[in-house]
Amino acid sequence: MARKKIALIGAGNIGGTLAHLAAQKELGDIVLFDVVEGVPQGKALDLSQCGPVEGFDAKITGTNDYQDIAGADVIIVTAGVARKPGMSRDDLLGINLKVMKSVGEGIKTYAPDAFVICITNPLDAMVWALREFSGLPTNKVVGMAGVLDSARFSTFLAWEFGVSVRDVNSFVLGGHGDTMVPVVEYSTVAGIPVTDLIKMGVSTQERIDSIVKRTRGGGGEIVALLKTGSAFYAPAASAIAMAESYLGDQKRILPSAAYVSGEYGVDGLYVGVPVVIGAAGVEKVIEIALDDTAKANLQVSVDAVKELLVACKGIDPSLA
Ligand code: APR
Repeated sequence: MARKKIALIGAGNIGGTLAHLAAQKELGDIVLFDVVEGVPQGKALDLSQCGPVEGFDAKITGTNDYQDIAGADVIIVTAGVARKPGMSRDDLLGINLKVMKSVGEGIKTYAPDAFVICITNPLDAMVWALREFSGLPTNKVVGMAGVLDSARFSTFLAWEFGVSVRDVNSFVLGGHGDTMVPVVEYSTVAGIPVTDLIKMGVSTQERIDSIVKRTRGGGGEIVALLKTGSAFYAPAASAIAMAESYLGDQKRILPSAAYVSGEYGVDGLYVGVPVVIGAAGVEKVIEIALDDTAKANLQVSVDAVKELLVACKGIDPSLA
């Protein structure tokens, strides 16, 4: 059986980390694409030379030519500009929208059968634009946000309870941004809802509220520390989990920025919801019951995404 092909559009911090993880896991042969000449080639060469040391067998190549992504099974898009300190994700809109146009056209021409995972921010708007520009079916284009947001939430919960992150399962809905909705009721430690742990006196509502706040600002916290870029290890790991679920038909339930058609009372846009990812791409959007607060928070998040889409259509009338 031929090896799978993984194309990574954007060979920056996340792109390079993605290539390393995909190679270590031998997900397939890897093509790193970037508009900057030399960078994808240099990173591909450097990463190839990890093979003998780490014992992985994957062909890694770098390119500036979209032709080389032809026939890719999975494409992960990080092309664009990352957030700088003081810059909101939304400031990035204009610049990254143009990037999505060129990436979408490249995918449409050379890899229309791929499963596409978008990471570029502002995520919920960029994944929508990428789908529009590429013309791929909505179940084959998805955004990576929820896996990362819930990983952040789980990390902070594990620290709070002093337990292994393996035993924490947390739940985040909504847009990737300050309006994301960490759902405490559906977040558990070894199956015990965090709300019960508060009742048991293991933590307090105030402490959990501050963890929710920290999760919402999780990306900004790292930007402020790094000063010259944004998070890249956990974003890359999160997208790889989604790619593995697709390639292995694992049918994992992963919170993702997915296209919704009426679920959660939202229609025709991308927003963070739990989905099943398997061989058919996004196979199902899982609709869970939400209490009034979570519903109201989700609505705020959806409204923020809608505003971004209006802004996108204003910038590029071909999207209207
Ligand atoms: N086509 C392909 N690659 C491009 C394009 C383009 N039109 N425009 C820019 N790039 C490349 C840059 O040359 C750079 O190598 O995208 C890469 C982005 O890499 P970084 O600046 O290191 O950013 P990174 O940390 O990887 O984040 C990428 O993901 O989390 C989001 O907000 C983040 O939007 C950002 C994206």
